[in-house]
Amino acid sequence: MIDFYLEDDNRKHWAEIQRLANLNTPEADKILTKYTLEGTRLSNSLGIFRNVEPADTQTITIKQLGQDVVLKRGDKVFVSFVYASKDASVFPDPLEIKLDRPTELYITHGEGQHQCLGKDINIIQNTYMLKTLAKLRNFRRAPGDDGRLKFIPKPGGIKLYMNADWSKFTPYPTSMFPPFYIFFPTIRVPHDTNQSIAMRVQFDGPIVS
Ligand code: HEM
Repeated sequence: MIDFYLEDDNRKHWAEIQRLANLNTPEADKILTKYTLEGTRLSNSLGIFRNVEPADTQTITIKQLGQDVVLKRGDKVFVSFVYASKDASVFPDPLEIKLDRPTELYITHGEGQHQCLGKDINIIQNTYMLKTLAKLRNFRRAPGDDGRLKFIPKPGGIKLYMNADWSKFTPYPTSMFPPFYIFFPTIRVPHDTNQSIAMRVQFDGPIVS
């Protein structure tokens, strides 16, 4: 999500996110939550496997990218949250950040009886991460490859995340910077001190409000 908002095309949202972060009111935080949900919707690389168990019949027909697919009991399907999150029938103008979409439409934490137990806390956590980073002056990518989130794009919008030197896959993007970077923002940490950093960022200090 942070990588998404640091993309050139999405930087236009950053000034507003910064303004809301510095307002520091419950109302502004609610809007930041919408930015979090939208950023996650458009940048996620998630999905889930489901077993096909039609209730009353042996087969079930579903639509896949506009085409009918017949599934039978025992089949396994991969439900792509990447596609579901950009389904224009659910999210009109799917590639636009819109802050008035109903919260219950967002799918990245699953749905139904096994929906993510950490959903609410995770959304709060992500909102506060966005808010905290938006309070940093001139928050930006480090120059060059350092500032790129390391992943290999795969079919269907899935990203295979990698560590800093591209030597191994990681299930999730790893941290953007070590904690002490906050206290020494001008110091560049050498590559070999922390192989888990997937993307380096820089800033010029906290905004003191
Ligand atoms: C980016 C963060 C996270 C994402 C995208 C995420 C997503 C998911 C998804 C898609 C599922 C499966 C839902 C389903 O089967 O319908 C799930 C299950 C689960 N998640 Fe998360 N999750 C996240 C963070 C967390 C956190 C922080 C916690 C705990 C504090 C957590 C706890 C769980 C548990 C316990 C389940 C299993 C629920 C069950 O099977 O009944 N998750 N999560």
